Amino acid sequence: MASDRIESLLARMTVEEKVGQLGVFADMVRPFAPDVNPEANVRNAEQVLEQVRAGRVGSLFNGVGAEAGRRIQQVAVEESRLGIPVILAADVIHGMRTVFPIPLGEAASFEPELARRTARATAVEATAAGIHWTYAPAVDIARDQRWGRGAEGAGEDVVLGCAFAAARVRGFQGDDLQAADALLATPKHFAAYGAVAGGMEYAQVDISPQTLRDVHLPPFKAALDAGALAVMSAFNDINGVPASANRWLLTDLLRGQWGFQGVVVSDYTADMELVAHGYAADARDATAKAFLAGLDLSMQSGFYAEHLPALVESGQVPMALLDDSVRRMLQLKEAIGLFDDPYRSLDPARERDHSHIAAHDALAREAARRSVVLLKNEEAVLPLRKAGQKIALIGPFAQDCDNIEGCWTLFGDQSRYVPLDVGLRTRLADPALLDVVAGCALEAPLDGGIEQAVAAARRADVVVLALGEPQRYSGEAQSRVEITLPAAQQALAEAVALTGKPLVVVLRNGRALALHGAVRDAQAIVVGWYLGTQTGHALADVLCGDYSPSARLPVSFPQHSGQQPYFYNHPRTGRPELPGMSEFKARWREISNAPLYAFGHGLTYTTFAYGPPQLDTTQLEWDGELEITVTLTNTGAVAGEEVVQLYVHDRVASRVRPVRELKAFTKVALAPGESRQVAFRLDRRQLAFTGADGQCRAEPGWFDVWVCASSASGEAVGFELLAPR
Ligand code: BGC
Repeated sequence: MASDRIESLLARMTVEEKVGQLGVFADMVRPFAPDVNPEANVRNAEQVLEQVRAGRVGSLFNGVGAEAGRRIQQVAVEESRLGIPVILAADVIHGMRTVFPIPLGEAASFEPELARRTARATAVEATAAGIHWTYAPAVDIARDQRWGRGAEGAGEDVVLGCAFAAARVRGFQGDDLQAADALLATPKHFAAYGAVAGGMEYAQVDISPQTLRDVHLPPFKAALDAGALAVMSAFNDINGVPASANRWLLTDLLRGQWGFQGVVVSDYTADMELVAHGYAADARDATAKAFLAGLDLSMQSGFYAEHLPALVESGQVPMALLDDSVRRMLQLKEAIGLFDDPYRSLDPARERDHSHIAAHDALAREAARRSVVLLKNEEAVLPLRKAGQKIALIGPFAQDCDNIEGCWTLFGDQSRYVPLDVGLRTRLADPALLDVVAGCALEAPLDGGIEQAVAAARRADVVVLALGEPQRYSGEAQSRVEITLPAAQQALAEAVALTGKPLVVVLRNGRALALHGAVRDAQAIVVGWYLGTQTGHALADVLCGDYSPSARLPVSFPQHSGQQPYFYNHPRTGRPELPGMSEFKARWREISNAPLYAFGHGLTYTTFAYGPPQLDTTQLEWDGELEITVTLTNTGAVAGEEVVQLYVHDRVASRVRPVRELKAFTKVALAPGESRQVAFRLDRRQLAFTGADGQCRAEPGWFDVWVCASSASGEAVGFELLAPR
């Protein structure tokens, strides 16, 4: 039962006004970024305001600005018949004015608390700019790096994905939804969007119910448990039923089993696309199927506005169901205090004050450097020396400011972006020792570029090669057939490598890449993702040793594109490749199926030693807990942070189980020579999986457990889960 206010509104609303609350449309009143979505059902500012006035709009999205937001709200509250405020949404994914690392990059920190803090800062800035509701976090698990939207999520692992999903929801929403800086969160895209066949955007998802339950659904559950009140439905079908009209998904599971009370908003025109899917005959049919499946809000197609009233009239859609959806939408507005204060988050003075928050620059730098993964560092070529070393910074990303923010950054303050050369130059005692040459464009050679690059490399003691994917290679509709560097950049790297100078490759990337030739063979490789506003400073912090890298790969780096989909926690095969035995084994004709760099891998400027894992018992009672302890020692000469990872493997089970699965992780900072005991607790719930009958359960028997530095390291010890007594 909703509040009296909502019930009394509902009682007074016409069907058209009810349906109006379920309509979400592009905000054409405020500055709008039109190219993030295909044009559909476009209206101009006056038409939008007219619709608001007529009570035909529940929510507008992707506009920005407090002043104009007040104007919209004034029309809704003072000029519409019932005065219901609109709720203003936007894709604010990894920063607002201050841009933080892409979510995949931030997941590499293995610090959910960092993600909570950057999401909080994002909420402070977004709500100051007239936005109540974000379409984030994306919590899709991405096991195929060809897919472009892995950049928006937390990578390939479920436990890591759940931790980041929950942290981001908490960060966006804060502790008090009615506070002026609380930003509603929307875990998306429900569900299994990351499982599209072949990594091709918008393709089919043909998936076992077990993989759906064990891999793709848990991050949504974690986000809802953290308090999210909205969910966005996905574009894809799941085993032939589009997610946006999937009654099992949106109603039986989400509401029935999980008890979700919030709203389900369609992805952009996803209801309309039911026709293209061939799942609905026409617009009216699509509206009926989507709505009856449990899709509350229709984004941008206008289908609900056009067809729901007639469907209700004909009895095909019961009025009570319409009321349920409207009630949920009004409750969403009530939850953030919009009825009491329709002008919340629409204060131009606050917007001015918050246009640049200096503390957020510091946070952006911290988040960025904590996201950088050092894959390789032969002969300690890193850190660079700040004095007495001639450095050639070569590559199309050396001075680039256009590929700093990464995908889905609509409102970033570009005037604050720090490119790599600026970051490096500020750090060096004698900036004249830094020579900067582009060498090639992002995707094409430059006239004389290679010659200039080679000459610069020859003059230098060490070469930093700034290479990678243009940022538009990741994000929506950016699936790739090969996850490699553009050919012009590869050619540049090969030519520079022939000089024989030590090479440090600094990558910009929105996915795991397949690295080849001179890039793979460089002395050092740094994964730099898209790090946001403070890119140059954060990279320089790492490259110059002011910060010892502490991030780890949230996605496996394969040897070759053709290994995709590729993820560390794959089920066991009956013919695994064994050392020295590769005939008739699970491998590729040309290469083994090992990663080039494993999930969880990452180096620091120090070294860590793990003592043997100690179990407090090897017999885990059915309702008991097991404690696993290791002693971790910083055996190097500088301070550093280690991501201690706990993996489990079920030796024999009623379904084939993954070779390893991450179950817990923690980041530990140690001074040189310092040791610490790191303890984890495990219980039966963490050993559970979905059985052949669809039920989630753990099975008694023996398990292996590793406490180690990556998914490909460590020594296992065994324990037994005892049957219930
Ligand atoms: C994307 C969503 C986004 C929506 C609104 C869609 O194309 O898939 O992630 O929230 O557009 O911009």
